[in-house]
Amino acid sequence: MLTSEAISPDKVQAVGRTIGSMTLGPVQSVRRQEQDLIISAENGSLVIRILPRGMIRFKLFPGAAGEDAVLSMKSTVAVVPQENSGGTLPEARLTEEGDKYTLATSEAILSISKQDGGISFMSGSRQFIADQAPLAWDESQAVTGLFTAGKSAHFYGLGEKTGALDKKGERYEMWNSDVYAPHVPEIEALYQSIPLLVVHEEDYTYGLFLDNPGRTFFDMRSNTDSFLMQTETGSMDYYFIPGPDMKGVVSRYTSLTGRMELPPHWALGYHQSRYSYMSQEEVLELARTFRAKQIPCDAIYLDIHYMEGYRVFTFDPERFPDPKGMIAELKKLGIRIVPIVDPGVKLDMNYPVFKEGTMNGYFCLKPDGQPFVGPVWPGMSVFPDFTEDRASEWWGDLHRFYTEMGIEGIWNDMNEPAVFNPSMTMDLDTMHGNNGEPVSHGEIHNLYGLLMSEATAEGMKRNLNGHRPFVLTRAGYAGIQRYAAVWTGDNRSFWEHMAMSIPMVLNLGLSGVAFAGPDIGGFAHHTSGELLVRWTQMGALFPYCRNHSELRSIRQEPWCFGPEVEEICREYIGLRYRLLPLIYSVFREAAETGLPVLRPLVLEYPEDPNVTNLCDQFLLGEQLLAAPVYRPGTTCRAVYLPAGTWIDYWSGQRYEGGRHILAEAPLERLPLYVKAGAIVPHQPVVESTALEAQRELTIDVYSGDESAGHFELYEDDGLTLDYGAGAYSLHRFRLREEASVIKLRIDTLHSGYGTSQDTWRLRFKHLSFLPGEIAVGAISADGAFEGSNSPETYYDEAEQELTLWISRPSSDMEIRIHQK
Ligand code: GLC
Repeated sequence: MLTSEAISPDKVQAVGRTIGSMTLGPVQSVRRQEQDLIISAENGSLVIRILPRGMIRFKLFPGAAGEDAVLSMKSTVAVVPQENSGGTLPEARLTEEGDKYTLATSEAILSISKQDGGISFMSGSRQFIADQAPLAWDESQAVTGLFTAGKSAHFYGLGEKTGALDKKGERYEMWNSDVYAPHVPEIEALYQSIPLLVVHEEDYTYGLFLDNPGRTFFDMRSNTDSFLMQTETGSMDYYFIPGPDMKGVVSRYTSLTGRMELPPHWALGYHQSRYSYMSQEEVLELARTFRAKQIPCDAIYLDIHYMEGYRVFTFDPERFPDPKGMIAELKKLGIRIVPIVDPGVKLDMNYPVFKEGTMNGYFCLKPDGQPFVGPVWPGMSVFPDFTEDRASEWWGDLHRFYTEMGIEGIWNDMNEPAVFNPSMTMDLDTMHGNNGEPVSHGEIHNLYGLLMSEATAEGMKRNLNGHRPFVLTRAGYAGIQRYAAVWTGDNRSFWEHMAMSIPMVLNLGLSGVAFAGPDIGGFAHHTSGELLVRWTQMGALFPYCRNHSELRSIRQEPWCFGPEVEEICREYIGLRYRLLPLIYSVFREAAETGLPVLRPLVLEYPEDPNVTNLCDQFLLGEQLLAAPVYRPGTTCRAVYLPAGTWIDYWSGQRYEGGRHILAEAPLERLPLYVKAGAIVPHQPVVESTALEAQRELTIDVYSGDESAGHFELYEDDGLTLDYGAGAYSLHRFRLREEASVIKLRIDTLHSGYGTSQDTWRLRFKHLSFLPGEIAVGAISADGAFEGSNSPETYYDEAEQELTLWISRPSSDMEIRIHQK
């Protein structure tokens, strides 16, 4: 515990890095080489590479000047090969005029000063974006990039950071760190490092991705009219990502670093965890309790106590004498097991994983050739070198141990890597083989978790016979979304931590990580019934939904605080399951476009000044807006509704947006709104996605006020990779409302899953007029409406709700509801 002595005058130190005094100096030559512009200056070189989708990469080579300088443009594994990425390379024109060179593409125009290599950025339409001062470095080749920013600039992204949504006025460090100290706004580094900064200027949004997996800094605090991007080791290798809007930045950034694959359905269910469920009997009892209480649950997690002496790839024979039998029993209840796997391998001559890894040279070595050994849960341990393909393959294949028992999900923890020593990680001079191009740990520290998740996901995939694996990770780097979902680590059962998880997960989403969530209820400290209720209400709509708590904390399964809390948790976990067809469709959109599942309002309403730093509301996809209660003893709250008409999900009451309203929120109520024009699919509550065979789809249409809306419903088997071969269905809904007719057009974009035997129930909610003639018809090839069928309908006058049943369409069709 710190005392006031921490701020004693003798202890005051300068914050932040100094800016080096060396720069490129006068430019001596500029060469074009295919997609590269090579700027050779007095003190070094800068390569500017034109990439597909208008992105531009900059890599600095301090000291490497002259025509024969060796300039390697190799990227880290964060970047997916761009050659076959489908994007076309924009035309780039280089001109020389006066004291500058100009490089122009349709997306961006760069002016490069001949005097010092400083760069001015403009959009393709000559709109000023920012000036970048000459990159500056010091003797240790730590580099600083300084960019000007407008007064009204706002900052987003940066992955998993504490604090508010808008990072203006903050400074962060990128260094994957196991932080058990409470996560407070002043913590600059947590488990994930995603060096993507999204800069939202008044009329232009762009991104900067600094691809350096060593220690780096982003400083939006030191100056009011500029911000800094700094490296400590490795290279200044960054990407300018044009917008012009935030969606453009996120989608381009994820085309660069990859997008998630569709997770299995069960990974989107409710998950229950604790450090630790101690025995096979306890796990089975827990599963039976979920079923007896009819609380949906898809997965139970095994924390470190399932292992024998914390040795990964083992089960403790006394606590878990028959894991296979347990897993088979759980399967009948529709519950899967997700065991924890940490990277630390116990140093134990009699432990086959240690022996095999040592004999084959799979562990990280110190410069003297001895393995790096450090303490973690199993005691002294060694750590696989995931930069070596052969070590990663070995590690991946070890997962056969789990898959052979029927396990399809793995939880990767402690993979910063966390080590219980003063530096809290591996010695920085530990060497990584890196497939023949050795690098020190200090240079690639932030890649360790990503590489471990990659090895795990690939290994699981190899062993799952066409099923999709689920991997959860604590540590990661840019691109982690390709391999794993992310949970935000060891939070606490504080109301503040519940509130902070909103901007945290929103910024993770803007940083490419769409599948993320916190420990619901809080990990450390002790939750209360009220906090658990409020957190479960919110968490039920988060992309990743797991309740997890620490060894010494009070129990926090949904039934631990009496019948009222249990009932509300059941209802909201049930809501998640009812909304799964929507959630899954939004996940598919994220997998296709990189856009987040959980969205800050600023992503959808970038021009609304009320939402630039709105930290306590979020959108699920585009259509649902949630405003959770995150303070104790609170039964109403202010909700900001952006432009448009919004409908209370529970009561149907309509509100004109562009203003604040006061929402009633007794304990059992999460303020939730649907955008007018929304099309929201629901399914009946199921207790597990494994039990969902008999589902009937209800598609709720929120018409009214001449609203328009669209939605794409995605369906597949939710379990296998067959969707890649076309086994999926995609329907596009478009709603148009005119004075006396509502038209719902349903286009079948792909029809490779489900049959026309399946019935869809369409519910037109809160109709603004009394329905008369209802026509359902095909849309002919020339776009004409061939209305004929009169479907089975039911009109509920009190609710002003029209229900009609149709078969799952296999070709384009339209439904027209005329006013009586
Ligand atoms: C770390 C993890 C936590 C886990 C614990 C024991 O603290 O973040 O989720 O329960 O280790 O494995």
